[in-house]
Amino acid sequence: MAPDRSIALVTGASGIAAATARYLSRQGLGVAALDRAPDNLAALGETIPDLLAIQHDLTEPDAAADAVAQVLARFGRIDVLVNVVGISGRRFGDGPVHSCTDEGWDTVMDTNLTTTFRMCRAALEPMMAAGHGSIVNTASVLGYAPAKLFATHAYAASKGAIIALTRTMAAYYADHGIRVNAVAPGLIETPMSLRAQGDEPTKAYIKHRQPLTGTFGSAEDVADAIGFLALDQSRFVTGTVLEVAGGWGVAG
Ligand SMILES: NC(=O)c1ccc[n+]([C@@H]2O[C@H](COP(=O)([O-])OP(=O)(O)OC[C@H]3O[C@@H](n4cnc5c(N)ncnc54)[C@H](O)[C@@H]3O)[C@@H](O)[C@H]2O)c1
Repeated sequence: MAPDRSIALVTGASGIAAATARYLSRQGLGVAALDRAPDNLAALGETIPDLLAIQHDLTEPDAAADAVAQVLARFGRIDVLVNVVGISGRRFGDGPVHSCTDEGWDTVMDTNLTTTFRMCRAALEPMMAAGHGSIVNTASVLGYAPAKLFATHAYAASKGAIIALTRTMAAYYADHGIRVNAVAPGLIETPMSLRAQGDEPTKAYIKHRQPLTGTFGSAEDVADAIGFLALDQSRFVTGTVLEVAGGWGVAG
């Protein structure tokens, strides 16, 4: 490993996370990816030969700290953290508030928001010691631009909270040389959106809500935006939420 090679840790190993890990690897970074699913890690390892694959369920309290420790043990540094792990909690009972179950609420908050918080907490110490770092969190357009069709209110609340966390961290850590930004994807073609991809009302809806193409975006569309925010080409950018949604936020 070249001593000045930057190192990135990406949470998740499929969909947007896999495309991001490949983007960062193509830019010459050393990459670690964390996922609970060994198959996702193995598949990603086939496209990134020197990948550090970390298998953890990130909702386990010690998983984030252990992941950062593994990155430091292997590479000696961590320059970039990209938080992608997240779920749609519909099958746990997420829904409109009047019918959202406690399990749905808690599972979504734990998986989307608490994992992001714990990963940031674990990575900040070495980043502060180094005097630099770049963190990119994954929000969603549903965190600030709702649609009645997507009635998963715990999910929306978790993504709105990720935006607040991103901006308050950006304010606090700017003079440590640490940038904190987020992407807000619209509907993207990944394993997570499989049900939506076959749903006629959803397809009709995005024709006007994502008017640039009228279709789902690709994982690479989001990875390109994350890559921009992660790397030094955006060295003067912090506290921003970059929407990657084919016009969702400006569509009538
Ligand atoms: N696909 C979309 O339309 C869309 C839209 C807006 C936001 N997002 C966000 O993008 C992110 C990635 O989603 P994706 O579309 O690539 O979906 P995905 O399901 O392909 O990726 C999520 C990954 O997270 C992993 N994961 C889930 N829970 C985990 C846990 N507890 N511990 C470890 N790994 C865990 C899964 O195994 C999977 O590899 C999520 O935060 C999601 O909310 C997706």
